[in-house]
Amino acid sequence: MSALPTANRKLIEWVEQAAKLCKPDRVHWCDGSEAENAALCELMVKGGTFTKLDEAKRPNCYVARSHPSDVARVEDRTFICCEREEDAGPTNHWADPVEMKKTLEGLFDGCMAGRTLYVIPFSMGPLESPIRKIGIEITDSAYVVVNMRIMTRMGQAVLDNLGPDGDFIPCLHSVGAPLKPGQQDVPWPCEPDPAKKYIVHFPSEPSIWSYGSGYGGNALLGKKCLALRIASCVAKREGWLAEHMLILRLTSPEGEKHYVAAAFPSACGKTNLAMMKPSLPGWQVHCVGDDIAWMRVGDDGRLYAMNPETGFFGVAPGTSEQSNPNALACLDKNCVFTNVVLTPDGDIWWEDMGVPPPAKGLDWKGEEWTPDCGRKGAHPNARFTAPAAQCPVIDPEWQNPAGVPISAFLFGGRRAATVPLVAEAFDWQHGVFMGASAGSETTAAALHQAGVLRRDPFAMLPFCGYHIGDYLAHWLQFGKHPKADKLPKVFFVNWFRKAEDGRWLWPGFGENSRVLKWVCERVSGKGKAVESPIGLLPAPDALDLSGLDLPAEDMAELLKVDREEWKKEAADAEEYFHKFGAKLPPAIEQELQALKKRLA
Ligand code: GTP
Ligand code: SPV
Ligand code: MN
Repeated sequence: MSALPTANRKLIEWVEQAAKLCKPDRVHWCDGSEAENAALCELMVKGGTFTKLDEAKRPNCYVARSHPSDVARVEDRTFICCEREEDAGPTNHWADPVEMKKTLEGLFDGCMAGRTLYVIPFSMGPLESPIRKIGIEITDSAYVVVNMRIMTRMGQAVLDNLGPDGDFIPCLHSVGAPLKPGQQDVPWPCEPDPAKKYIVHFPSEPSIWSYGSGYGGNALLGKKCLALRIASCVAKREGWLAEHMLILRLTSPEGEKHYVAAAFPSACGKTNLAMMKPSLPGWQVHCVGDDIAWMRVGDDGRLYAMNPETGFFGVAPGTSEQSNPNALACLDKNCVFTNVVLTPDGDIWWEDMGVPPPAKGLDWKGEEWTPDCGRKGAHPNARFTAPAAQCPVIDPEWQNPAGVPISAFLFGGRRAATVPLVAEAFDWQHGVFMGASAGSETTAAALHQAGVLRRDPFAMLPFCGYHIGDYLAHWLQFGKHPKADKLPKVFFVNWFRKAEDGRWLWPGFGENSRVLKWVCERVSGKGKAVESPIGLLPAPDALDLSGLDLPAEDMAELLKVDREEWKKEAADAEEYFHKFGAKLPPAIEQELQALKKRLA
């Protein structure tokens, strides 16, 4: 046996224990090298998990097709196992940690038979950052290894940084499909029974156990599990924020720069906004991150945000030269595409890609597909995994270990009615109320009925690892923080308002730069606003609509605040908040009553 790549006792012992439990055929410590990655891709091509794309068209790119039962996060099977049920709160599934451990140990016993156990050392955040978190993911999925290498800093450098005594978060993952001797493997092994999938967090250890799924946030454990659910618990304790937010920089034609962070629920436009091409001449957007922000108060009283990831796990359908040219430009090389159409010439396609579909191809299920066959070619939650460094507008500061100073927060979601294009909060407390009452029509990013309105406070509903009432209190206390005296301004946005005939009222995408411009003008004290019962709206002519062919009636509708609709909205929010019981912060109740009074 060759020498182990680490002297970390805790790690060595944990890997030994995991191997004893999972009983793999072999153990492989990932070094993160080019050669290792090539060998794993090659292995997956042989096993049918990967199809290599045409090397001339898309060098070093692969298509994967998941099992049809394993296409999105499984929120129903996601558990927070803190000691007391009341600490998980009304938005999480809780299970007793001791009981759950027993269940999991039963499931993991022998679950890697016939497979390789991969040890993936990874860091969320730059290794040299004092706030980076090291995780070790143990998995039996080569697909997970290759994706984690894109999404995180991964490999030997992490073990070196960890050292002999460093601490890490153990993340144990299995697709839950042991092989009997001689049994032929399938391209996408997983546990097809939804009731036997488990995505489990033990916040007090902390540790993560994930069983049965190989897809996205269920399996790439650095992302939602570590960097949001576990990190949110740590952040609460240590006085910082772990948020489901993109981070971008907006630069005006005069060179004025502002960093903006925005929380929208899954599949509601973070990747698109994070790297958008502004339609306004002379304005620039640079991308720091598209999904997660870790934020701390800096010595200067401002909030500093860092993107703990190194890649984009982005929604493929709808990504086009028109909607998001900078995302497309990331996809030229070194990417994994999951559940898209494979074209006969070894390339990829998805709905609304902005290029004609192939005459025929293989759909996300691997079945023959033609444009007129009546089925979608790509799954609505088809995703690309792309290195952030390949983004043409990646911000030069994106790996700054100290993060970037945030000037404004945006909250939003998909709201066909009621919610205007943009509104500014009166103050921090009102801003927290805005974030708390955010909601969205649901999407394909999670397995549930799509298109129904659900409240999604701060876009963290599926990602907050503790009681959501305590989470709101945590946000509120920054308003009284002795050092945080230059907090960002808070805004609410809605790109998704619809006309009666069902069309989008707002063109969205690059045109959202018009809203960003007003936001930054408000931050620097230049933008004009008018008061409404729900917040400050752009004054007439304050939004730069130059060169935009938008009917005046549509613009009026976009900024309309209908009192009757808003009374219903407030009543709905009230019903939701009252589920928080005694944990609802009084300040949120105060804001709710103040809103109702302004609407009366
Ligand atoms: P997650 O990765 O799940 O967290 O999603 P996300 O928030 O990054 O969403 P993303 O940017 O991938 O957008 C999801 C869908 O929303 C895509 O189909 C986009 O085309 C669509 N979308 C994004 N921005 C806009 C917009 O401004 N207007 C409209 N109408 N659609 C948008
Ligand atoms: C989301 O659902 O918010 C995502 C995709 O970013 S996943 O990583 O699968 O959670
Ligand atoms: Mn997300």
